[in-house]
Amino acid sequence: MITVVGSINMDLVVRTNRFPKQGETALGDLYTTVPGGKGANQAVAAARLGSEVHMIGAVGTDAFGDELLAGLKAESIQVNNVKRVEGTSGIANILLSEGDNRIIVVPGANHQLTAVEMEAFETQLANSQMVIMQLEIPIPVIQRTLEICHQHGVPTILNPAPATGFTDEFLPYATYLTPNETEAEEMFGQDWEAALEQYPNRLVVTIGQKGARYFDGSRHVTVEGFATEAVDTTGAGDTFNGALGVALAESMPFEEAVRFANAAASLSVEKFGAQGGMPKRQEVLARLGGREL
Ligand code: RIB
Ligand code: NA
Repeated sequence: MITVVGSINMDLVVRTNRFPKQGETALGDLYTTVPGGKGANQAVAAARLGSEVHMIGAVGTDAFGDELLAGLKAESIQVNNVKRVEGTSGIANILLSEGDNRIIVVPGANHQLTAVEMEAFETQLANSQMVIMQLEIPIPVIQRTLEICHQHGVPTILNPAPATGFTDEFLPYATYLTPNETEAEEMFGQDWEAALEQYPNRLVVTIGQKGARYFDGSRHVTVEGFATEAVDTTGAGDTFNGALGVALAESMPFEEAVRFANAAASLSVEKFGAQGGMPKRQEVLARLGGREL
């Protein structure tokens, strides 16, 4: 079982043919709401790939809260430890344009999770094969969860996104760290490639379409990505993390696990929405060339 401790947002997506300049009004051609949030996205990615997934998080008492919970349940994700709190659910204001995105997250209910509450989830965490976290929930919650997992020898993936919440105190506790290039730079400075050597087979930096990089103890490895026609890159990183969690929880060798995650991420960008293109296991295996894993 994989447990995800993380954010649950409603994504308010607006598409326009170019990003408006400051003070400018642009005309959009699409507005829609789709479930998102890095935590929920990573949970959905793992569930579609066949894992039993348990989500710990919070949504509001608003209508988005109902929709978000229903969405998770529809993916067969266990939500009995997703609490409902007074007020609004987390939302992400997503502007899609020029083949890219700009996102503003308003945490809402996500920021009402507390470190003390995590004590009640000790058994749940201890019984997990993998625990996955991101940085859209309060830092003390992440720190406490990492400590509990560490104490029980449960492996963790900390996806340091957005990197603004990252602190070096996480480093001894997180088993795996999965920043993208921008986040890696915020965490380790421009020379993040050197930092890879300090965390062999633990720190893997995603480099978009090009794949992912890590150090295996003796050499630097680039696991090539899968080139594809991107419709919407929102949630590609989340798909990578959910898939990596599934692969590592199944004890797949590290390089194979990263390739599996790359393949899943490449499929996810072919459809609209963070969760829209998240693949089933068969699709990932097909992209990998039908090789047995
Ligand atoms: O990683 C993509 C996600 O970031 C979106 O779904 C949005 O909710 C933000 O949390
Ligand atoms: Na997508």
